[in-house]
Amino acid sequence: MNILFLGDVVGRAGRVAVCNNLLKIKSLYQIDFTIVNCDNASGGFGISRNAEQELIKAGADVLTGGDHIWDQREVLTFINQSKKLLRPHNFPNSTPGVGYRVFETANSQRILVIHLLGQVFIKYNVNCPFEVAENIVKNHPLKKQVDAIFVDFHAEATSEKMAMGKFLDGKVSAVVGSHTHIPTNDCHIMAQQTAYQTDAGMCGDFDSVIGMDKNVPLQMFIHKRKFDKMEPAKGEATICGCVVEIDNKTGLAQKIFPLKINGILGEQIL
Ligand SMILES: [Fe+2]
Ligand SMILES: [Fe+2]
Repeated sequence: MNILFLGDVVGRAGRVAVCNNLLKIKSLYQIDFTIVNCDNASGGFGISRNAEQELIKAGADVLTGGDHIWDQREVLTFINQSKKLLRPHNFPNSTPGVGYRVFETANSQRILVIHLLGQVFIKYNVNCPFEVAENIVKNHPLKKQVDAIFVDFHAEATSEKMAMGKFLDGKVSAVVGSHTHIPTNDCHIMAQQTAYQTDAGMCGDFDSVIGMDKNVPLQMFIHKRKFDKMEPAKGEATICGCVVEIDNKTGLAQKIFPLKINGILGEQIL
């Protein structure tokens, strides 16, 4: 089974790039299941109903969020009904939505997607992602309950993400990070056959500061205040993500490789 994960979609530029290219990417890499992080899809902050529908229509099987999941207030009106949008599971139990779910691929393979938020340098005081991950995985053993387990760990600190990788090595198919918007050059299969990448990067315009129009972040760094509204950069986006190949017998990973398509960072052009 081949799983595609795309990093944080940022604004219209990110959405357009994903919508125009996802079907091509899926056929090029024979993708069975697609997970797209949409934490910055609408105006750079969170996801609206329209953007959710747009990305699903474009071919995303699951959408994950992150620390910006509540930024578009309308998300509260549809997250409970949405079968495809996950919020980090380590928010309090009273929070709307869920953070993990078992999905079925077209070939009837069961894939558990788990979405967690880090605790280091993140504004929300969420529950321990390690404890939460352990409990979910304990109840969904690989190849007994599910055929694959993919973890999107939305976190700032590289150390916290590597630690999560090591913690889940051998128990899940892949642990891939999101949130920092910069793809890390460390795709590898860990000792117990779990695929790992610290951060998949973003689907956004890299002529920016992490996807946002560079002028406002520069004002903030130089003048210590902002004069204008933060807006996503509008240039052509690079689609960043990774592909994980999973051994159908064990549910563990055989291969992981990064994708950087189109835009400034693009190694592949579609
Ligand atoms: Fe984030
Ligand atoms: Fe993000």
